[in-house]
Amino acid sequence: MKVLVTGGLGFIGSHTVVELQNEGFEVIIIDNLSNSSEEVLVGIENISGKKPVFEKMDLREKNAVISFFEKHNDINGVIHFAASKAVGESVENPLLYYENNINTLVYVLQELQKKDDASFIFSSSCTVYGQAEKMPITEDAPVQMAMSPYGNTKQIGEEIITEVAKVSNIKSILLRYFNPIGAHPTAEIGELPIGVPQNLVPFITQTGMGLRQQLAVYGDDYPTPDGTAVRDYIHVVDLAKAHVVALKRLLENKNIDKVETFNLGTGTGSSVLEVIHAFEKVSNQKLNYKIVGRREGDITSAYANTDKANEVLGWKAQSTLEESLASAWKWEQKIRA
Ligand code: WQD
Repeated sequence: MKVLVTGGLGFIGSHTVVELQNEGFEVIIIDNLSNSSEEVLVGIENISGKKPVFEKMDLREKNAVISFFEKHNDINGVIHFAASKAVGESVENPLLYYENNINTLVYVLQELQKKDDASFIFSSSCTVYGQAEKMPITEDAPVQMAMSPYGNTKQIGEEIITEVAKVSNIKSILLRYFNPIGAHPTAEIGELPIGVPQNLVPFITQTGMGLRQQLAVYGDDYPTPDGTAVRDYIHVVDLAKAHVVALKRLLENKNIDKVETFNLGTGTGSSVLEVIHAFEKVSNQKLNYKIVGRREGDITSAYANTDKANEVLGWKAQSTLEESLASAWKWEQKIRA
């Protein structure tokens, strides 16, 4: 079965390509290399033994998207990762985000709408919940006013998919990720943040390697047990496996609704200080950090209610926070060796 993975050379995309190949899928990757490199193909092949077909393309080029689907007219399954995903950048450059995250989704859906049958997996985010009222967060928690253009593009994307489902043969699953961390246990692929990492774990591992002087902890005055903000950190391989399970559900017509939504997390919340202490344990070294003021736009707490993913999707995250951090640390050490 041939599957298109857009953004397939990115962090979550590349790990998902490996899991698709492990399940016998033939994978075609589209990526514009704006936030990744062709080197990732080597890592994927070193793990799975198969080099996926890769077409360098910018999905903002509508005619290129049309030509691609004409050439590969036997593609019925698409996992759509391609998007810009830096919250801060989206505030500074909203139109880049609306063009890149919305137009590209529209162009891909326009091609799938022409088909008698199509299965579409959308990379969404717990960011759509904003600061949810109740923890852990269930899929029917209300979507709240986006805190950034990035978050808004995920909300709009979900709405577009829902509307299109009513007038097409496209079956869709929206996967709302919590906080993806870690790297493949082989350390052949992992996270490759460009410039100064915005996210906590890559900043920690770079500080652990001495690439960063000190980690700034954004606030310890939140209403949480230790005052630092709480998130649900999920291993990227667990996340990747969920995509294969979701795609199979659609390909085998096991979906109950045309559009289904699943939270992908571990179900456990961890504070920033807990992550730091877990990292110190797995790296067997003290981490240099200091408490500073809160970061604009951050929420206090977000962790998933995983019942629906466990019971309906039939998927459960396996890795603990320490295992995830150990894989991130192994990866950081390898790429800096
Ligand atoms: C986690 C916690 C920070 C860096 C974002 C997006 C989300 C998804 C994941 C794309 C927070 C604290 C962080 C630092 C810190 N991205 N922190 N010092 O903000 O929960 O989620 O990334 O899909 O959509 O919103 O992740 O890793 O940036 O922050 O104290 O140097 O770590 O305040 O509490 P976040 P994060």
